This record gives sequence, C-alpha cells and structure tokens, in this order.
Amino acid sequence: MNINVKSSKRNYNIFIKNNLLDNLKDYLDMNKFYIIITDNQIPSIYIKKVSSYCKNNHIIRFPAGEKSKSIEQYKIIIEELIAKQVKRDTIIIALGGGVTGDLAGFVAATLYRGVDYIQIPTSLLAQIDSSIGGKVAINSQSIKNAIGSFYPPIKVLIDPTTLTSLPKRHFNNGMAEMIKYGMIYSNDFFEEIKSSNVTENIEYFIYKSLRIKKHFVESDEYDQNFRQILNFGHTFGHAYEAYYNYEKYLHGEAISLGMLKMVNNEIKSSLINLLKKYELPISDPAPKKDLIKLIKHDKKNTTEYINLIYVDQIGKGYIKKTKIIDL
Ligand SMILES: NC(=O)c1ccc[n+]([C@@H]2O[C@H](COP(=O)([O-])OP(=O)(O)OC[C@H]3O[C@@H](n4cnc5c(N)ncnc54)[C@H](O)[C@@H]3O)[C@@H](O)[C@H]2O)c1
Repeated sequence: MNINVKSSKRNYNIFIKNNLLDNLKDYLDMNKFYIIITDNQIPSIYIKKVSSYCKNNHIIRFPAGEKSKSIEQYKIIIEELIAKQVKRDTIIIALGGGVTGDLAGFVAATLYRGVDYIQIPTSLLAQIDSSIGGKVAINSQSIKNAIGSFYPPIKVLIDPTTLTSLPKRHFNNGMAEMIKYGMIYSNDFFEEIKSSNVTENIEYFIYKSLRIKKHFVESDEYDQNFRQILNFGHTFGHAYEAYYNYEKYLHGEAISLGMLKMVNNEIKSSLINLLKKYELPISDPAPKKDLIKLIKHDKKNTTEYINLIYVDQIGKGYIKKTKIIDL
C-alpha cells in the first residue's frame, strides 16, 4: 500500500508493507552514504537489516525516551556528524519511534541547512502519525516541541511486522492517536476500530490512519488552521505530560485524558469504552488549575485566547477560539 503526500518543499511516498525491511533494495539506493539514527531500545535485528543493506553507513544510538528530544542530545549528534565529516548528500535514516523521528528529523532539517532523511518508523504511534507531516522538533527545558521545523522526509518506509516486538503499552499508546482520527474525522473509522481486531488487520488500520492524517496536512501544511484539528486532546494532553515531568504518561496516554476533556457527555461513554479496550487512562487527579497554568505556558497560546479542538459528535472535530479564563 502506498500513499503520496504533497508538500511545498517536496512530495514524498509512504510505503506500507509487511517485511519491507527484508526487501530494502526496492526502496533504497545502496550506493549512498547513510547515517542511521536510532535509540538504544530498538531491537538490533532491525538495525542489522537496515545497515547490512546500506553498507556505507554510520550508526548513532541515543538513550531511548522523551528526555532525548533535548538540546543536549541534539548537540551530541550534530557534533558527531560534523566530526565524521558527513557531506550534504548524506542521507539520514530515522529508525525508531516518534522520539527518533522528531530528533533525527530536526538534525536533518538543520545540519548544513538541511540534508535528506528517510523515516523508518517502528512504533505504532510513529507509523500512523509522527513519521508523516514533516513536523520535527526537540523540547526546551519547559516547553515540548519548542524548537522545531516543518521539514518533510524524502520517503517513509513502514514495516508493520516491526510492531510484533513493540511492548503492549507502547502499542496501546499508538492506539490513542488512531482513536483520535476516528473522533475528529470519521465515525465509520471509530466504529471499525471498535468492532475489529486491529492487530490482525494492522496494515489496513495504518493505511486508513495515514489517509486521514494526509488529508489534514495537505490541506494546511503549516498548521495555520485546519491541521490544528489533529491537536484534539493535545492541549490538556501536553499539560498532563508536563505536570508529571514526562514520567507518568506516554504521549498517547496523556492525549487520551486530554480528549476526554474536550467531548460532551453524550459521546464521552463511547470514547471511554474504546480507551478502556486499549488500557488507556480515563481519569487523573491532577488539579485543573495546575493544568491550566501549564496550558498558558504552551507555545501555541497567545495570552488571553487559545484555539481548542472540540468534538460534540464523533467524526466531527472543530476549532473554537476559547478564553483561557473560561476553561
Ligand atoms: N512529529 C509529529 O508530527 C509527532 C506526532 C505525534 C507524536 N510525536 C512525538 O512522538 C513521540 C512519541 O513517540 P513514540 O510513542 O513512538 O515514543 P518512542 O520513540 O519513545 O518509542 C517508544 C519506545 O518503544 C521502543 N520501540 C519503538 N519501536 C519498537 C519496536 N518495533 N520494538 C520494540 N521497541 C520499540 C523505543 O525504543 C522506545 O523505548 C513524542 O515525542 C511526541 O511528541 C510527534
């Protein structure tokens, strides 16, 4: 299954295929020099598959986890690449989850004012969300994704069989973003997720999720209006992540709590039931006033008003400019 994504910088293809990592000759030019950036918890079998095909390579492994989306980690990688005298025609491969994609993508966007990079996402969240759309970023001390760019990859290679080694909690974490697509865009998709065995049909569910994301990013590449609907659940979600210093919740778990804050009572129970099916959190004791303090601090917010995404009817997300004081 292929999807083409259009963007002002370049159009790129997403290839989704089981065992794609065993057939890299169909997707990569083995004569190029590749920098493979990956975290230290990605099973080495995937790194071996990529590096044994891309023979001219240099592998950089960094500590897994959100804390590596930092200026310090960025600096370590950039200095290593410069010390290695990599050239502008080098291709960076981001092999891993969303943290790897965001960090390696930001390195690619900024090294020599931009080198090409390929996303090979291996977590569900990265396969259905973060590897496409071109948003790359690292975090400042206090603001998530504060330092970043819009910089699309040259291609995205998705091998759903890599999900077999993904810990269950991380699989469920990705499910939160899939459920989000149903909530904001398609009641039918929401119902399909509810009634199907997603794991058994994962290629199909990845494809459907990416079609929805493509629709939003192509309509509004630079996140000026329509694309913001993808942020459903993220305003409070980011606040929950920050409140617990990125230690209690994974991204999708925090988004689950955030989505529940933005729906009316009529649809809340449907959402709760589906979140429960994937062992995602449905309540948290963090005081609202503390979350609001963190929301005020979030990068997207002007002082008084904030664009929030609400869903009153499953499949129809919409933006509403809201006074922070009214939250
Ligand atoms: N750029 C975007 O548009 C966008 C969108 C959504 C989320 N994000 C970002 O994505 C990040 C979260 O991504 P994530 O949930 O993938 O986290 P992650 O990258 O930390 O990966 C989760 C864990 O799973 C491990 N892992 C990944 N694939 C594996 C596999 N196949 N087998 C075994 N282990 C595997 C990783 O080593 C890591 O320990 C956050 O930083 C978030 O801000 C970015």
